[in-house]
Amino acid sequence: MTISLRPFLPSDAPALARLFRASVEVLAEEDYSVNQRAAWAGVADELVTFTQRLAGALTLIATRDGGLAGFASFVDGRIDMLYVDPEHARAGVASALADALEKLAAARGATEIQADASDAARDFFAARGYAAWRRNTVTLNGEWLATTTMKKQFAQPDKAGAFH
Ligand SMILES: CC(C)(COP(=O)(O)OP(=O)(O)OC[C@H]1O[C@@H](n2cnc3c(N)ncnc32)[C@H](O)[C@@H]1OP(=O)(O)O)[C@@H](O)C(=O)NCCC(=O)NCCS
Repeated sequence: MTISLRPFLPSDAPALARLFRASVEVLAEEDYSVNQRAAWAGVADELVTFTQRLAGALTLIATRDGGLAGFASFVDGRIDMLYVDPEHARAGVASALADALEKLAAARGATEIQADASDAARDFFAARGYAAWRRNTVTLNGEWLATTTMKKQFAQPDKAGAFH
């Protein structure tokens, strides 16, 4: 199956909210309790706020053979959101999204990129060369959830223009 990327449109928001909830409910099941996942999934309940968050960031949509498969957003030097539809998990969708956001960040002159990774996403980011930097606890809709700030340094060109 072919993975394609395109920019976010505000009309995508309702479908992305559904994908977000399914992603949290299913793919974060091993790492967070029922109450924690309900609180986290509730972030998409206010569709206007959810839409504004995506529209205010550099947001990309991934499709697999035309079907919505995932999305990711980049703001202030960090990956803000990265969610894959459970039916398209472990198929390289998040990798394609992260590849694109890392390239865009580097093209804008960034020397590193960050993510506040959920425990469900830590192995994904670690496999891409992100190092754990700080453990956090965030409050969402009255529940405490642990995350890890992870950072990846981009290769810098030397004076001759070669990358290391
Ligand atoms: C984390 C997440 C984005 C990964 O999406 P994905 O499209 O399945 O990831 P990919 O297929 O691109 O995975 C690439 C590599 O990352 C690693 N990886 C991804 N998911 C993993 C998991 N659950 N456990 C261990 N390693 C994992 C593997 O090395 C994988 O390569 P492999 O499949 O060849 O072994 C997805 O599971 C998700 O949406 N989770 C719930 C929401 C979430 O936590 N989002 C992050 C918020 S910061």
